[in-house]
Amino acid sequence: MNVELLTGTRAVRKGLDLTRPVSDAELAACLDIAVHAPSGSNRQPWRFVVVRDGGLKAAIGEYYRKGFAANLSGRTPRPDQLADLGSGQYLADHLGEVPALILVCSLGRLPADAPPLRQASFYGSIYPAVWNLQLALRAKGLGSTMTTAHLAYEREVAELLGIPFDEVSQVALLPVAHLLPGRAAAPPRRTPAAEVTGWDGWVGAEGVRG
Ligand SMILES: Cc1cc2nc3c(=O)[nH]c(=O)nc-3n(C[C@H](O)[C@H](O)[C@H](O)COP(=O)(O)O)c2cc1C
Repeated sequence: MNVELLTGTRAVRKGLDLTRPVSDAELAACLDIAVHAPSGSNRQPWRFVVVRDGGLKAAIGEYYRKGFAANLSGRTPRPDQLADLGSGQYLADHLGEVPALILVCSLGRLPADAPPLRQASFYGSIYPAVWNLQLALRAKGLGSTMTTAHLAYEREVAELLGIPFDEVSQVALLPVAHLLPGRAAAPPRRTPAAEVTGWDGWVGAEGVRG
């Protein structure tokens, strides 16, 4: 097992090469890996929309930028979040220039009052495929970031791409590009498992609350 792929794959924003093309074949190979993810009752609810067209990417980029700004407003970031916010803003300013955007969708739409079990089954059946896709991209030298900021404009993006809004939920938008030379990311900062794990009970699992 490639442990480094699992521990080293992280959000890439400033490290995305906006000028080097990414081939359809590279993306298709990664999508072939993504679909091996688990899902409830093996429903395989994932659907992918690969966006290459410059006009579509620019329009989605604009919705993303507005969604990102709305997300930030009224929030006071912790000091350790400032670097991520800077790179987040960079991505928001350049999303439309990234060689490919992959919009991950899931068949169905949860009612607002869906019980926890249904929510877990719905989202738990799609995010493993998103992470599989990110790992596959990274294994092939491509960078990506899981993003959701455009979802404030999910309906507008659905119209733009011909996605039936009432029947299909968008869950993540991945900007995809080759990694800039020398931008193999430093390992992600994570709280050690020992600090967030209780054995035979909750005690010890409190971790460091943000
Ligand atoms: C559910 C979810 C939503 C996210 N949405 C965004 C987003 O809209 N924009 C963004 O730049 N990053 C987004 N991220 C990426 C996180 O900021 C990133 O995974 C986290 O900061 C860890 O980064 P690292 O792996 O580089 O340490 C999202 C991640 C998750 C899991």
